[in-house]
Amino acid sequence: MTTSAPAAEYGYEAAAPFYDLFERKNNLDFFGEYAALGAEALDIGAGTGRLAIPLAQRGLRLTCVEPCAPMRAEFERKLLADPDAAARITLVDGDAASFSLERAFPVALMAGVFEHLLTPEARLAALTNIARHLEPGGLLVFDIFLAALADEPLTPAGRVSRDGREYRRYLATRQLGPSLGETLLRYEVYQDGQRLQRVEQRQRVALTSLEEIENLLAQAGLAVRLTFRDYQFTPYMPGDSLLVVDAVRVR
Ligand SMILES: C[S@@+](CC[C@H](N)C(=O)[O-])C[C@H]1O[C@@H](n2cnc3c(N)ncnc32)[C@H](O)[C@@H]1O
Repeated sequence: MTTSAPAAEYGYEAAAPFYDLFERKNNLDFFGEYAALGAEALDIGAGTGRLAIPLAQRGLRLTCVEPCAPMRAEFERKLLADPDAAARITLVDGDAASFSLERAFPVALMAGVFEHLLTPEARLAALTNIARHLEPGGLLVFDIFLAALADEPLTPAGRVSRDGREYRRYLATRQLGPSLGETLLRYEVYQDGQRLQRVEQRQRVALTSLEEIENLLAQAGLAVRLTFRDYQFTPYMPGDSLLVVDAVRVR
């Protein structure tokens, strides 16, 4: 009898079909400005193609890395409906710490991913591998939440109507320790007042600091160039809960 290791969990296995319905981050133009700096951008943890597909529709070329098969399935389903965007996108299975493309890019984007790298070792492995995929002087742009999670029970967190169905999302959060938090997402699907489906997804999220990030970037051969508190290029101030980092490959 052969046994195989269980597939790694990335926290989006059950949530993937609902991701686009509820994700409302207004960061397409921000990441788009960076993606447009070079001939092609690398998008790490590209998810369902929420950023990559509209950027390809603007004429940009992207190579997308995504380890979670259900997220890639959503991405591929959307590409089938948009052959022009699909022609500008290469989508590959891969983890930030271990993907290997045998080529380097002028720009790498990583949106909504860094908090899923749960230990300093995991964060360093990812940054080192990403740096290896950047041209000298190439840029890595990524975002991260730096605030601890409040202890909150399951609370309504969005309602969307689509094709005669209503989709409801609930969110619970708690901090498990000084550097680890957990979110619980529940999705429910209703039609004609009847609940058709309920899905729950737990996600672990890391709590880190700008100081640690600067340190890890330096070890990976990257240096912070700019930091922002939002997606409008407003400079980051200590205490802000969102940190967006623009880092350059220096060796
Ligand atoms: C919040 S979603 C962001 C998706 C997309 N970047 C966006 O902005 O819509 C986080 C994504 O990171 C992926 N992810 C989690 N851990 C990862 C890792 N170690 N390496 C690469 N991607 C990872 C998840 O599978 C998921 O698709």
